[in-house]
Amino acid sequence: MQELIKSTAEALMRAKHCVALTGAGISVESGIPPFRGKGGIWEKYDPMEYAHIDAFMSNPTKVWQVLLKDMKSIVDKARPNDAHLGLARLEQLGILKTIITQNVDGLHQLAGNTDVIEFHGNFAWHRCLDCRQRIATHAIDLTTIPPHCQCGGIYRPECIFFGEAIPPQHLMRSQQEATRCDVMLVIGTSAVVQPVALMPVIARETNAKVFEINPERTPLTDNISNGILEGKAGHVMNRLVEEVERQLSTLDPIY
Ligand code: OAD
Repeated sequence: MQELIKSTAEALMRAKHCVALTGAGISVESGIPPFRGKGGIWEKYDPMEYAHIDAFMSNPTKVWQVLLKDMKSIVDKARPNDAHLGLARLEQLGILKTIITQNVDGLHQLAGNTDVIEFHGNFAWHRCLDCRQRIATHAIDLTTIPPHCQCGGIYRPECIFFGEAIPPQHLMRSQQEATRCDVMLVIGTSAVVQPVALMPVIARETNAKVFEINPERTPLTDNISNGILEGKAGHVMNRLVEEVERQLSTLDPIY
């Protein structure tokens, strides 16, 4: 593992344009459960019953009661963990340029990253289904479910449900970043949801090095990625950033 940390850090140091792709796993250590696998949300709830746009439109009370209410209380409290902070540090060092995230929790921005593409939208804001007035999620009052706007319309989150299109500007920018990058860090994603899972494939096809950070192997492992740093994101990122900083400190100052 130390050898892979070292070679990943070397690739990061050489990178002209490094991009990270993140998924639910990076926020697990912030107390937000993942979707798949042990303790995953889709183990408890059928996504077609609770996370499809048709399910929300036909019964918003049920979706708010079962899924969105809990999600709001978890996301309201969550704080960035060492993995988010490590990516913010890589940006500060001038290495990481952009994050493409599938997460809607806003933790990358809270950690300090400034260019974050929220591929599946965000949960920081809601909008009224009728008058489209926006409201910050923390300001939503949950004494009645579903929560209503002053006009009487129901609030929906600004993240996408299954069955909805990816916001085109996010899709286009992500494809551009995947094409342009020379190193992609793929952190905490099962890489099974399309079209976002294509981003590492595009990166690899355009000659980028792709490194995963995940305690488990994914469909990218040994196939698309050049290596997998196995372990929890916080611990692995701490080691990786430490190694980058160690290598930086050995550089001749005139360079
Ligand atoms: P998943 O829940 O599918 O996958 C989570 C990944 O994180 C798995 O590969 C785990 O092995 C890994 N993991 C778990 N704990 C970890 C830790 N501490 N550190 C690092 N990795 C860890 O989440 P996503 O791939 O993000 O879509 O799921 C993609 C999309 O599926 C989501 O954006 C969401 C969902 O349905 C929508 O809501 C549209």
